[in-house]
Amino acid sequence: MVDSGRHFFSVDEIKKVIDMMAIYKMNRLHWHLTEDQGWRFESKKYPRLTEIGAFRNGTMIGKDNTTNDGVRYGGYYTQDEMRELVAYAQKKNITIIPEIDLPGHMQSALAAYPNLGCTGGPYEVATTWGIKKEVLCAGKEEVYTFLEDILTELIDIFPSEYIHIGGDECPRQRWKECPHCQQRIAELGLKSDDKHSAEDYLQNYVTARIQAFLNSKGRKIIGWDEILEGKLAEGATVMSWRGVKGGLKAAQMGYDVVMSPNNYMYFDYYQSEDKDKEPLAIGHCLTLEKVYSYEPYTDLPAEAQPHILGVQANLWTEFIGTNDYLEYMMLPRAAALSEVQWSPAAAKDWESFRTRVLSAPAVYAILGYNFRPFDF
Ligand code: ACM
Ligand code: ZN
Repeated sequence: MVDSGRHFFSVDEIKKVIDMMAIYKMNRLHWHLTEDQGWRFESKKYPRLTEIGAFRNGTMIGKDNTTNDGVRYGGYYTQDEMRELVAYAQKKNITIIPEIDLPGHMQSALAAYPNLGCTGGPYEVATTWGIKKEVLCAGKEEVYTFLEDILTELIDIFPSEYIHIGGDECPRQRWKECPHCQQRIAELGLKSDDKHSAEDYLQNYVTARIQAFLNSKGRKIIGWDEILEGKLAEGATVMSWRGVKGGLKAAQMGYDVVMSPNNYMYFDYYQSEDKDKEPLAIGHCLTLEKVYSYEPYTDLPAEAQPHILGVQANLWTEFIGTNDYLEYMMLPRAAALSEVQWSPAAAKDWESFRTRVLSAPAVYAILGYNFRPFDF
């Protein structure tokens, strides 16, 4: 997964990521196209999404959210450019799975169309990182019309069987205070219980409506593991990110799963414990060896293993503002990911990998990729 929302990467830069993915025999690019800090998907029907939502008034400096660098920042992909990328990837046997993250992580859309929020705004495209309390209103019918319109444009461009609908990190505060959301909860008869609030079940309703819509168009949904909380309809695929727990549970419940646990597969994490010597990153350390050590079937009964569709790494880009740095975070960890994806546990051998991966930098250099220098 590449996050083009927090930072924008050009069409050529995304092509370069695709090229390297093909070298490592990866076959799906999950493309995160919308974020609080920037909307990157051109919509013909809702032009303000890119006129307003694709640009933010500066970016916080480092990890201090009281600062702002004062530099207007943004960009978006035209529909033609996205079609070009779909075709480019297809030639390399890579399917692009686009993500419209909903109902949270939508502040850029709210800045463009404030009526989509619970309070009506005003909102601004976020200039700081972190989880935002401003989310789509789940009560107003016009929000569902908006989402169906956007997804209709999206699936016209992306032929992928799977469409990622996000679902992560959606705070309930606005929904709790909103008359529209509360009316919807009453109409649906949603009740809190000892495990979940009525607002938790309201997100299940949003997910189910979007799922039904996409299913009616012949597509399937993938969502972050939050979609498993409460009730999830059959046929949804769960992407496990808060560790492996959600994925293991979903697979045993009969859902298909993509494993992308943060403790093994978040390539935005530092590559060394020596953080002072690394460019600024989001926090924890994820070494090459740790990536290599990941085994998606661990603690999973044999009968549930076929539900694991694959393993994915995520490149979130809060602190990744350039293509050079994106490649630095991707390489050489993508080499380890490839063996996790394709090698049965019995065929994996760190000593063998360690020796072989030492020759990778020569290839990266020839092909013009930046990477994190390493030795052992
Ligand atoms: C996520 O990292 N919020 C999916
Ligand atoms: Zn609302």
